[in-house]
Amino acid sequence: MEKEGQVVWVVVSLVVATALMLPLLHRLRLSSRRGLRLPPGSMGLFFFGESLSLKCQRMNFYTSREKRYGKVFKTHLFGHPSIVITSPDAAQFVLLEQPARFKQRGLPIIEKLVGDLFFGYQTQRKHARLRKFMHGPLLPETLENSISDIEALATSMLHSWELKTINILEEAKHYALKVAMEYVVGAAPHYEKEELTKACEHLIRGVSSIPVNIPGTHYHKALKDSKKKACALLENIVSWRQLEKRPHGDILGILMDTQDEDGCKLTPNEIHDNVLTLLYLGHDTAAAALTWAVKYLTDNPKLLEDVTAEHETIRQKKTSQDETLMWSDIKDQMPLSIRVIKETLRIANIVEFCYREVVEDVEYKGYLFPKGWRILVAHSAVHSNSEYYTNPGEFNSSRFKIAPKPYTYTPFGNGAHVCLGRELANLELLIFLHHFTLNYRWESIGDTDGSEYAPIHVPKGGFPIAVRRRKSRSMTDGKGS
Ligand code: HEM
Ligand SMILES: *[C@@H]1O[C@H](CO)[C@@H](O)[C@H](O)[C@H]1NC(C)=O
Repeated sequence: MEKEGQVVWVVVSLVVATALMLPLLHRLRLSSRRGLRLPPGSMGLFFFGESLSLKCQRMNFYTSREKRYGKVFKTHLFGHPSIVITSPDAAQFVLLEQPARFKQRGLPIIEKLVGDLFFGYQTQRKHARLRKFMHGPLLPETLENSISDIEALATSMLHSWELKTINILEEAKHYALKVAMEYVVGAAPHYEKEELTKACEHLIRGVSSIPVNIPGTHYHKALKDSKKKACALLENIVSWRQLEKRPHGDILGILMDTQDEDGCKLTPNEIHDNVLTLLYLGHDTAAAALTWAVKYLTDNPKLLEDVTAEHETIRQKKTSQDETLMWSDIKDQMPLSIRVIKETLRIANIVEFCYREVVEDVEYKGYLFPKGWRILVAHSAVHSNSEYYTNPGEFNSSRFKIAPKPYTYTPFGNGAHVCLGRELANLELLIFLHHFTLNYRWESIGDTDGSEYAPIHVPKGGFPIAVRRRKSRSMTDGKGS
């Protein structure tokens, strides 16, 4: 009996081993046939790969490997064999030229917590179809109508800061979530919307936690409670709308109405994952950008004065203090503020890379990008490279007086998946800067130099400041003097 058992084990092991080896053999055959090889690089330690190195070294991770291996190198990150790209050409190849062969993916923790049915992660056809519809509410023509709503959110937040010490990042997260909420789930009963906001904040907090799924951890709570709660609230809103039978032009309305070629609607789970991922994308990113912008203005007092002057000029042309901003004010009258935001996004690299999965074996300049591997298009490395930016570590908004070289400036990604919310992000940042620089002054509190990846790149500690009303304002604001 025992001997028989052993034989069975040997046979089973052999079968399993062969099964495991087959794809590898296939790959070797394939690559030798085409004369392709994997990009150079190190796969790091078994299981952990190089995730720890990336965590500890961050920008240095890219520069040191780029020096050793070139701008396309292999590694092992977040549990997957991966290829890192730090060259604008290769980035263009992946994002623009071959989008069908590189599928967008979220980081594992984001897909797991927020949802993996997001339209960006689907096939190229499905993605393109939904993207076309979703764009509507985020187009400049549509956004123009909501300037006053965003302004009201900004001014009421600023009002609550007066004479207080606040954590900008935390405050900015509320602001950005409220703004994103208007576009994504605009019309909804008050209670559901408030509760959904809270559930989302909890859920998103889980994204920056350590993914240990045991009771008591943020991650566990986010996975078990917040996601369920958010989905239940969304279901309430969907049912409410179905009863109302009135079309709503926000993104939830679009998701509820769209059908694919065969007339199939999205499933409830698809709607949940899309709404929650959109809220996630629209919230942490814009909040981090706002926080970094305030930090750079704090570090550069002369720049702050210049930005303030730009906004004073706009205000002086208004007949009353409460007059809201116009689209033309924002588009044409804020060139310096727009450059400050551009430079903020370049130097802070809020989103470090675009993440892709190779759908089928791809050849790039003699290298094999094997099916199933992940690709990191690390635009942060491009933004920090002195080949493309002189003194890349220095905040200098003047550099954007001249357009950057093609494909060297992509804080919003590029190609088929380029950020849908970039106009909205700019709008909410500019509106905030307008009122903040005009009416307030502040001091940073404590150590303000560090930063962390959560996984969005943010100032460590969220940049606390003590805020007061700006005194000289009363001298200059004499109602359109
Ligand atoms: C400063 C703030 C922001 C930054 C730096 C940013 C950055 C990015 C980047 C780099 C991508 C490309 C991801 C990829 O190719 O894998 C992206 C995609 C996306 N962003 Fe943003 N984003 C910001 C704000 C927003 C806002 C406010 C929204 C609005 C709700 C938004 C919604 C989206 C969506 C829906 C996508 C996916 C588009 C697609 O896959 O077709 N983002 N964003
Ligand atoms: C900032 O950039 C501009 C334009 O590239 C350049 O002329 C200027 O010397 C830079 N300023 C500093 C302080 O480096």
